[in-house]
Amino acid sequence: MALLKLKPEGLFTPQVCYDVPSKKEALAEILKTHALYTDPEKTDGKIFSGYRRQVLAREGLGPSKMLAQKLRSQFQSMVVLGIGGSALGAKTVLSALQWTVAESERKQVFIAENLDPIDFEQMWSKLNLEKTCFAVVTKSGGTLETLAQMSVVMDRLQKAGLAFQKHIVAITDPKKGALRTWAESHALATLDVPSDVGGRFSVMTPVGLLPLAFAGIDVDAVVDGAVQFFKGEVVTQESMAEFSGRLAELEIGGFAGHVMMPYSTVLRDFGAWFVQLWGESLGKVKIEGNSTRGSIPIAAVGATDQHSLLQLLVEGPNRLVTGFISVMNWPQIGGRPCAMQKLSSEFAGLSFAFGRTFGEILNAEKVATETVLREQRGRPVYTIELAELTAQSMGALLAFYMDATVYTAAALRVNPFDQPGVEHGKIMMPKILAV
Ligand code: PA5
Repeated sequence: MALLKLKPEGLFTPQVCYDVPSKKEALAEILKTHALYTDPEKTDGKIFSGYRRQVLAREGLGPSKMLAQKLRSQFQSMVVLGIGGSALGAKTVLSALQWTVAESERKQVFIAENLDPIDFEQMWSKLNLEKTCFAVVTKSGGTLETLAQMSVVMDRLQKAGLAFQKHIVAITDPKKGALRTWAESHALATLDVPSDVGGRFSVMTPVGLLPLAFAGIDVDAVVDGAVQFFKGEVVTQESMAEFSGRLAELEIGGFAGHVMMPYSTVLRDFGAWFVQLWGESLGKVKIEGNSTRGSIPIAAVGATDQHSLLQLLVEGPNRLVTGFISVMNWPQIGGRPCAMQKLSSEFAGLSFAFGRTFGEILNAEKVATETVLREQRGRPVYTIELAELTAQSMGALLAFYMDATVYTAAALRVNPFDQPGVEHGKIMMPKILAV
């Protein structure tokens, strides 16, 4: 059974079909550029990320599992101090898969992310400091939010008479950055973020693997799913190029937004991960010339947002592409079925759902929404069907979107791996706090 299936047919609704005179050549070009961007053998070294290389080599898996095992034997909880790509991958997989870990094996992982003092103190009040370790995660080694949090942690550990060297581990660039220098000078345990893998592509490096392994999640299986995907065993490279080429074509044709709508609450954080990946990788100036590219990523959750965003998707301007994710076979957890029970005659209007499991109702709602958008409204939509929600299918799903983003970047002629736009505010910050 395939881990996931891509169903892209709904991207070609009659209302938005463009004529592509040289589709074959365009696809060949996308495939070639994707290889240039991701294959160490084919790159010219100008625009490159090793996210595929690193996963295919299962790099970082062994050291992450080993350190996680050691930390699990000493601590009850882990706090991840990191933001952006240094937090979102672990957060996504944690919320999607925590239920797969047996109660007796579970450890708490908190992702501190932001500098909201209320949120930080609320998290802090749940910790037993003596039994808590902290993973400081920053590829650059110098991110303000992460290091502001680390400074508070150090101060509080010291005031509690606890040695920070025992409680803090660092995940950062193997050679560069302030955190690397500092961690080594204090003989802290460290793990590497490969120098050729940037934050939003780093979920399967120690950035994601250490906290996930600490939580008890089967990280071998997550990486396995991604390996299968990158080997082309789940969706072929040609299908990926065609799918992404079409997304790029729709964007150039005026489709300004890309809605990500998993029909699953535990995949809610996947939407946030996708928003960062899509927005930061594709919203930028083209490599050649000065024109800009990018469609706005929008995170939604089905069926919840049928009672919110759906009205806009159905009757608002035809300018959004919607991607659905469905879990085809829901597990029965907690040892009893979760199904709608028969209600009395006052509720006869809902009798069509009596006896149906929540999963069946949810999936039927997805089919109804997609059909309305595609058939009645001519909106471009696509679906990814996960056979089941497992560690392997999560790995494949993450790999799917990392690759889809890079194929789309190839078609849009942008560099998916940099983010020059976010530097402007960082340059302004010292002046603002200096007053
Ligand atoms: O994708 C990226 O590279 C960024 O979003 C980073 O993940 C984010 O800025 C955090 O950077 P760092 O890991 O250097 O702290």
